[in-house]
Amino acid sequence: MDKLRICGGRPLEGEVVIAGAKNAALPDLCAALLTAEPLTLANVPRLQDVATMLKLLAHMGVRIERGDAQPDVVTLDASRITAPEAPYDLVKTMRASVLVLGPLLARCGAARVSLPGGCAIGSRPVDQHIKGLQAMGAEIAVEHGYIVARAPAGGLRGARITTDMITVTGTENFLMAAALARGETVLENAAQEPEVVDLAELLIAMGAKIDGHGTSRIRIQGVDALHAPRAPHRIIPDRIETGTFLCAVGAAGGHARLRGARADHLDAVIDKLREAGVSVDAGDGVIDVRMSGRPRPVSFRTSEYPAFPTDMQAQMMVLGCIADGTSRVSETIFENRFMHVNELARLGAKIEVDGHTAVVHGVPRLSGATVMATDLRASASLVIAGLVADGETVVDRIYHLDRGYDRMEVKLRALGADIERVKA
Ligand code: EPU
Repeated sequence: MDKLRICGGRPLEGEVVIAGAKNAALPDLCAALLTAEPLTLANVPRLQDVATMLKLLAHMGVRIERGDAQPDVVTLDASRITAPEAPYDLVKTMRASVLVLGPLLARCGAARVSLPGGCAIGSRPVDQHIKGLQAMGAEIAVEHGYIVARAPAGGLRGARITTDMITVTGTENFLMAAALARGETVLENAAQEPEVVDLAELLIAMGAKIDGHGTSRIRIQGVDALHAPRAPHRIIPDRIETGTFLCAVGAAGGHARLRGARADHLDAVIDKLREAGVSVDAGDGVIDVRMSGRPRPVSFRTSEYPAFPTDMQAQMMVLGCIADGTSRVSETIFENRFMHVNELARLGAKIEVDGHTAVVHGVPRLSGATVMATDLRASASLVIAGLVADGETVVDRIYHLDRGYDRMEVKLRALGADIERVKA
């Protein structure tokens, strides 16, 4: 297993280009299942999760072309879906595989998708996905670890779906299923994340009739068929990668320019960084970030968009670890998303966890050690902590990081960080 070796203590200086959003690319790739015409996506990030999704779609018979000269452009041809199923071997490595369920049911009338099972950050069931698709008339059984779903004769029908909690991939599954259902679907309590909006805009460009995306009530009028959009759909910039680099500069100090980024998707994170004393200036597609000295302590609570994202909790916590005072961090989305705390403690951080809240007592310095990545965003926080810590930090099990960051160590090296990948 590859590791990252980091020699901390250097401020960051330079420019990086932000990649397309992982969590928009994954549903957008699945939208290809909804049409018999080839769909072209641009700004597709080069990540392990994208590779897994492409493997899964290829398993179903989707033909995929990824430009050699332009690897961020992908064309998917789902004119023939030969196997509407997602096998356990692929689903177990990536929960987002459940995103094929809605489009397969809508286009093929049947789907067999492995249950995702456990996950490091919490139990993460898919009961709401099932409940919503049942409301659209699907018959769903769980057999031998698989969700076996069948649409009624004549196809899925529009329904009013109110989920028990806000679910991002649930909302995306319903959007894709409803786009080809008969009649109107109304999603109440819908997720408002920019990635949901990106998917809705792609579907609209394919001929879907959707309004209200970006609010908690989305209305979809089903259509008979979807088509290839006239122009390739460009995936939005990754707000979590952007936020991760903002936190890296906020913690390590220095000055960086992030290109191809959207500050308007990160209001809650930028507010907290400014409260911590980090200077953030947003221009058109560019964010400048500057920091010197110790951060001020900042307390925050994760919640659904537009509030502070759970996917930024671990990275922002690193600023608290070296802040001049005590911060409180509350996690409200996932029940087990403080696994980075014990690893940060190995670097000298002083953190107490009480249920869903972590109390972070800032210390003047962290000191390098060997730590282990446990999930994607936890890994990013350990890398940031390694940039700050004195001496050498080794982050083990970085396959988690590779799932969701496009060559993070290469980008950090471009900012002057002393970081290298040690191949297994
Ligand atoms: N939930 C249920 N039942 C369901 C669906 C969700 O109980 O049927 C619960 C979850 O267990 C969780 C909460 O509802 O406690 C919210 O989960 P949600 O469904 O919104 O999460 P998700 O769609 O599985 C996406 C992102 C995650 C991100 C969350 C929250 C993708 C592919 N994944 O997951 O991203 O943390 O929304 O914003 O979009 C990451 O990129 O590192 C990542 C984990």
